[in-house]
Amino acid sequence: MTNADRTLFDLSGKVALVTGGSRGLGLEMAKAFAKAGAAVIVASRKQQSCDEAARQIEALGGRALAHACHVGVWDDLDALTEAAYARFGKVDILVNNAGMSPLYPSLDAVTEQLWDKVLDVNLKGPFRLSALIGTRMAAGEGGSIINVSSIAAERPTPTETPYAAAKAGLNALTIAFAHAYGPKVRVNAIQAGPFLTDISKAWPEGFESVIGARAALRRAGRADEIVGTALYLASDASSFTSGAILRVDGGQQ
Ligand SMILES: NC(=O)c1ccc[n+]([C@@H]2O[C@H](COP(=O)([O-])OP(=O)(O)OC[C@H]3O[C@@H](n4cnc5c(N)ncnc54)[C@H](OP(=O)(O)O)[C@@H]3O)[C@@H](O)[C@H]2O)c1
Repeated sequence: MTNADRTLFDLSGKVALVTGGSRGLGLEMAKAFAKAGAAVIVASRKQQSCDEAARQIEALGGRALAHACHVGVWDDLDALTEAAYARFGKVDILVNNAGMSPLYPSLDAVTEQLWDKVLDVNLKGPFRLSALIGTRMAAGEGGSIINVSSIAAERPTPTETPYAAAKAGLNALTIAFAHAYGPKVRVNAIQAGPFLTDISKAWPEGFESVIGARAALRRAGRADEIVGTALYLASDASSFTSGAILRVDGGQQ
């Protein structure tokens, strides 16, 4: 790789905000952004987990802000945005990564509470945070918004129907926001397939081999395998990519 190639992925002087940055895919992306030179704001519900992630980022030589936030609560997102701009003066990269998909025994057992929680975290929160930060990015130096979607958006199953609906909505937001805040702001989604994180600990027995059989790469992903695509979308390497939904799923069929 030449020096010119390397600068394509350089994030020196940039500020990245990663929701759900305290573990799993979010933590891997947060650490990768820090290694590429960005200051990173880590937001998840538990302050202690955010503090721990911030310590890991600082150990890599990066600047970090740990800010507890429930992404389904709009007041929390207002406070997160204020804290980010108060500390760093800007956000260049926003990753709407926090997400969850609780198990339920049958579709008629899905409670209103479960439905609201899943839609709030996976869809309502990313809408509000993209609006808050995207507006500021468009009025300022521009930026990149990355939504972490799921293969479930395209291949919904009865066991994760509310989640699939939320992630399909997130794909729609990706395209709409790309047009709303372009050309200064690029908005893209990573449509993740199965990754080995805390989420995969809830997979039923034998599910990992089912996934392997359906995948061109014959396995689930390691959390750090999200990093290449995240760096690509965050940086100038993707300067002509917006409104894209990129599959990172090992070639699931
Ligand atoms: N792993 C997979 O197989 C897979 C597949 C497809 C898509 N995805 C998507 O990838 C993203 C990351 O998943 P992951 O596997 O890394 O999950 P994970 O290991 O369970 O981590 C989830 C992160 O989100 C935070 N979080 C959860 N609820 C939150 C809320 N209400 N407000 C703020 N933060 C919250 C968690 O921290 P706290 O607990 O401290 O809040 C944690 O940092 C999600 O959007 C998920 O839907 C994952």
